[in-house]
Amino acid sequence: MAIQRVRSKWSKTNILLKSADLTEHIPETKRWSRSTLQAMLDQYKMVYVKPDSGTFGTGVIRVEKRTGEGYSFQMGTKKRTFSSFESMADRLQRSIRTRSYLIQRGINLLKHASRRFDIRVMVQKNSRDQWESTGIIGRLGHPAKIVTNYHSGATPMSIERLMTGKLTSSQMPSYNARLKKLGESIAKQLQSHYPGLKELGIDVAIDGSLKPWILEVNTLPDPFIFRKLKDKSVFRKIHRYCVQYGRFKKKHS
Ligand SMILES: Nc1ncnc2c1ncn2[C@@H]1O[C@H](COP(=O)(O)OP(=O)(O)OP(=O)(O)O)[C@@H](O)[C@H]1O
Ligand SMILES: [Mg+2]
Repeated sequence: MAIQRVRSKWSKTNILLKSADLTEHIPETKRWSRSTLQAMLDQYKMVYVKPDSGTFGTGVIRVEKRTGEGYSFQMGTKKRTFSSFESMADRLQRSIRTRSYLIQRGINLLKHASRRFDIRVMVQKNSRDQWESTGIIGRLGHPAKIVTNYHSGATPMSIERLMTGKLTSSQMPSYNARLKKLGESIAKQLQSHYPGLKELGIDVAIDGSLKPWILEVNTLPDPFIFRKLKDKSVFRKIHRYCVQYGRFKKKHS
């Protein structure tokens, strides 16, 4: 059977919200509307507006209600400021057009060397048909951008390096274990509605209190980013699992 893929972020989020253990890790997410945008900006001051089925960070917009007065949004590297909500919302609506968009509470990502980063957790079915978190890697965003996608110029980096100064080296293993467990819980919950899933790439934001937030779950994750880790055994395992469930053909020897 072919490996199942699910594109809609909205559908995946709603399934995750049915799990009591996961809800606290999901930033509030709504469908795009001007009134919802206004209400969420009043509440959270910063939100992400993004396509329901986007990839590579394309079309993702960071919107802010400024502490003084006015509003701003940034898409790509260009930041625009507005004196009123109405003028900002008009301009946003022109970018979004009639496409299906979501509004999500913005998480203030941790920074390393003044650049934001998030974490990608790879979760795969193993040979015993159990979900297993097989790799964790950080993605350090391009300094001028508001997304941390590899395809938008982010630099892959080990989580140990990114969390230096935020966690002690003796705290690292249990924090990693926590992320892995979160990944496996997400996979089990999605599996209950999409039985043909074999692999997931979860985008996790970490906030200032080190709480992990689930930004997005990809059903067609890029395994090759894990080649950037010094520890080559991580990619080897990921690749082996991919071959097992049929994403890649086994090399002839
Ligand atoms: N709620 C949020 N708070 C803070 N940053 C966010 C939020 N949502 C998205 N981002 C940033 O934007 C990036 C891209 O967002 P997201 O992963 O949701 O879409 P995508 O990457 O375009 O989709 P795909 O991963 O399927 O290619 C994230 O990796 C993160 O850096
Ligand atoms: Mg993503």
